[in-house]
Amino acid sequence: MEQIRENIRALQSLAGPLPAFLIDDAQDDPHELFLEWFQTAIDNGVHEPHSMTLSTIDPDGTPDARVLILKDVDDKGWYFASSSESNKGKQMETNPSVALTFYWSLIGRQVRIRGQAVPMGQELSAKDFLNRGIIARAIALIGKQSAVLDDRYRFDEALKEQMNLLRDNPDIVSPSWTLYRVDASVVEFWQGNKDRKHVRLRYRRNGNRWNKELLWT
Ligand SMILES: Cc1cc2nc3c(=O)[nH]c(=O)nc-3n(C[C@H](O)[C@H](O)[C@H](O)COP(=O)(O)O)c2cc1C
Repeated sequence: MEQIRENIRALQSLAGPLPAFLIDDAQDDPHELFLEWFQTAIDNGVHEPHSMTLSTIDPDGTPDARVLILKDVDDKGWYFASSSESNKGKQMETNPSVALTFYWSLIGRQVRIRGQAVPMGQELSAKDFLNRGIIARAIALIGKQSAVLDDRYRFDEALKEQMNLLRDNPDIVSPSWTLYRVDASVVEFWQGNKDRKHVRLRYRRNGNRWNKELLWT
């Protein structure tokens, strides 16, 4: 136990080699810079760069967070999909203010996004659902995400039932499956540096434009 704790303290972070962040070349739109950074993450072999943390707020003001898969990015925002009946779904219904966080350790880059989660409606949500593999669709059809599971065996039973249903009716769509888009108001790009001279560039929405500002680290 003590040895593991020692190991935690001994671990290095931002070991590099890390890329430079040339802020003078940074695009005027953070969606474009995000996509450029995303491609750099892929090119550098970052594992699952599309895994991100979604933070939400409970009705009593308590924050919550979990990892999700990024589905798409365009000039309007960042997309992910989940059940509207899950904890996060209910939280976003009462308070659509959310944050997304990416960390790509191999290149020492973090991106933080704050904004509003907007459900994309039935048609796009159904399209996203039908693009998923059969097991993922069957699990979504079970529903109950984030509810207490009394017995693991009941999950296997429910999965079998929904798999059979899907084999007979492959076009079934879960009514609660929802594609969300995060419309950002603030996006921050953080480039780590092994000498701790990190670079932070924040974009703040100003109507249809974005203001860029450097931040102290
Ligand atoms: C790498 C990874 C990817 C995940 N992707 C998704 C996803 O795209 N959608 C989703 O609903 N849950 C996804 N999950 C599960 C969530 O982290 C979470 O456990 C689940 O959505 C329930 O969250 P909630 O109780 O806060 O609603 C993923 C988990 C991991 C570790």
